[in-house]
Amino acid sequence: MRTLTILPGDGIGPEVMESVTEVLKAVKAPFEFEYADAGEEEFARNGDLLPQKTLDAIAKSKLAIKGPTSTPKGGGHKSINVRLRQHFDLYANVRPVKSPPGVKCVNANADLTIVRENTEDLYTGDERMVDENTAESIKRITKGGSARIARYGFELARRLKKTKVAIVHKANIMKMSDGLFLRTAMEVAAEFPELKVYDLIVDNCSMQLVTRPEQFEIIVTQNLYGDILSDLCAGLVGGLGIVPGANIGKDVAIFEAVHGSAPDIAGQGKANPTALLQSAVMLLQHVGEMDKAAAVQRAVYASLVNPLVCTGDLGGKGSTKTFTAAVVANLKG
Ligand code: NAI
Repeated sequence: MRTLTILPGDGIGPEVMESVTEVLKAVKAPFEFEYADAGEEEFARNGDLLPQKTLDAIAKSKLAIKGPTSTPKGGGHKSINVRLRQHFDLYANVRPVKSPPGVKCVNANADLTIVRENTEDLYTGDERMVDENTAESIKRITKGGSARIARYGFELARRLKKTKVAIVHKANIMKMSDGLFLRTAMEVAAEFPELKVYDLIVDNCSMQLVTRPEQFEIIVTQNLYGDILSDLCAGLVGGLGIVPGANIGKDVAIFEAVHGSAPDIAGQGKANPTALLQSAVMLLQHVGEMDKAAAVQRAVYASLVNPLVCTGDLGGKGSTKTFTAAVVANLKG
């Protein structure tokens, strides 16, 4: 048995996390659950967004699954995700984008993985007011950070038996920062001669993703571009209720869906747990439980084809609970 730290998070987080724990129990995953708090609701309870005891728990277990946490716009606290990713140096954000069976998709042929650098770039929120009418954000890109995310992407391509990796950037305009990222990625690519590594400017990549996503296998990109492209890709394959993710570091891994805390539907039983369930599939793969991972994936797919159990975001008539019950039933059946 291995300890799995569970952070239910804010908004729909606890609802979709309950679905995941039920399914993990049903598949007899070898985890001992240990709950830890983080988020605005924890702040309201105890005055701390990300308590030290939560950081200590993750540092000890090295393995966590996290529900979304809310971050205020244009002021207030720094994102808990950014803090967690920096604290544990979770440098690779891996987001597989695949059109699931039964789901009405904008494009049913998408099957790609976004590998997003997770610790640098504008996304660190390193900003200052120059004067009251002028604000600056620091885009910091390092050779080391670029090299390790590129290597992660190429090694993932090897593991998944893929042949093509696109490096996505805007080095035509940000010649220094994105130029360094692109140059470094191409240097590392020389160590992977069997892969076709090519580069694409992020605006063109966005258009290509909408029109012909099937051309992409692996996309390696910077933090902010990866954030935006992930949601674009979610839109292709059925929405934010579908796409899973993993934050991977040298020692610690934290699994979470791409979506946020969805305050508009929180507490109503409407949240689609598929994205977090598929994050749990990635978690099971991460710990080497390939059979259990495949079983959960199969059960999720088998449930997605039944509109009576699916949630409303997929045009279904069901709820978080009916979908979860269907996944559990399909695991047994
Ligand atoms: P969001 O992803 O929470 O919601 C966008 C839209 O997608 C909403 O209409 C929502 O109802 C829908 N949606 C999202 N997940 C869904 C699901 N599982 N099932 C059905 N519908 C779903 O994005 P938004 O509204 O921009 O952000 C809300 C809060 O979440 C913000 O405070 C933001 O900072 C935070 N956030 C947290 C993330 C994390 O913790 N990983 C990631 C993204 C946003």
